[in-house]
Amino acid sequence: MKITFYGHACFGVELDGVSLLIDPFITPNKLAEGIDINAIKADYILITHGHEDHVADALFLAQKNDATIVSNFEIVSWFAEKGHVKGHPMNHGGNKNFGDFSVKYVNAVHSSVLPDGTYGGNPGGFLVKANGKCVYFAGDTALNYDMKLIGDFEQLDAAVLPIGDNFTMGIEDACIASEFIQCDKIIGMHFNTFPYIEIDSEYAVEYFRKRERELILLTIGDNLKL
Ligand code: NI
Ligand code: MN
Repeated sequence: MKITFYGHACFGVELDGVSLLIDPFITPNKLAEGIDINAIKADYILITHGHEDHVADALFLAQKNDATIVSNFEIVSWFAEKGHVKGHPMNHGGNKNFGDFSVKYVNAVHSSVLPDGTYGGNPGGFLVKANGKCVYFAGDTALNYDMKLIGDFEQLDAAVLPIGDNFTMGIEDACIASEFIQCDKIIGMHFNTFPYIEIDSEYAVEYFRKRERELILLTIGDNLKL
């Protein structure tokens, strides 16, 4: 499993022969101007919630790649109305086996409205399982006790957690989350894109290191192999 960071909360997940893309927000993100979205392959686009900074490039990339949009029912229906009908709706607690991989839609404590004001269902995160690996993409979320369920019943190889504070967990709460989910390999996201979520990256990495945990801050365009 290869996880590529495309900036903000957007990640590519490359499996043997299948490409997933999570929360595409690339062209409006100045920090990601080095990324060519025309070069991104996606068979499935997973969307955690409806906010602009998670869906901005989803319609374009879904149509270009003939991708299946996987999200909650409201978001999948919204894209269908926008002209992209290839979708797979889910809701909290649901797991779907797509053959090469499976996806479980789990709780997130946040909000979810689509860019035009349409109700975006309840926000979530994803557990992605493939080739014996399991990665948790938390989406935008506060620290919450439901994360303990994941830690108690799943073996995570890595987790992608928001660390930018203000709209989501900050560094300290993300470190507590890593305890709840019993995973010490954390990939940070949702930081530095806007002034509201600027962080001190050195402090963040050091904060985790002091607690014997690893916080990985990928450079945009870089990847991690699991
Ligand atoms: Ni959000
Ligand atoms: Mn967001």
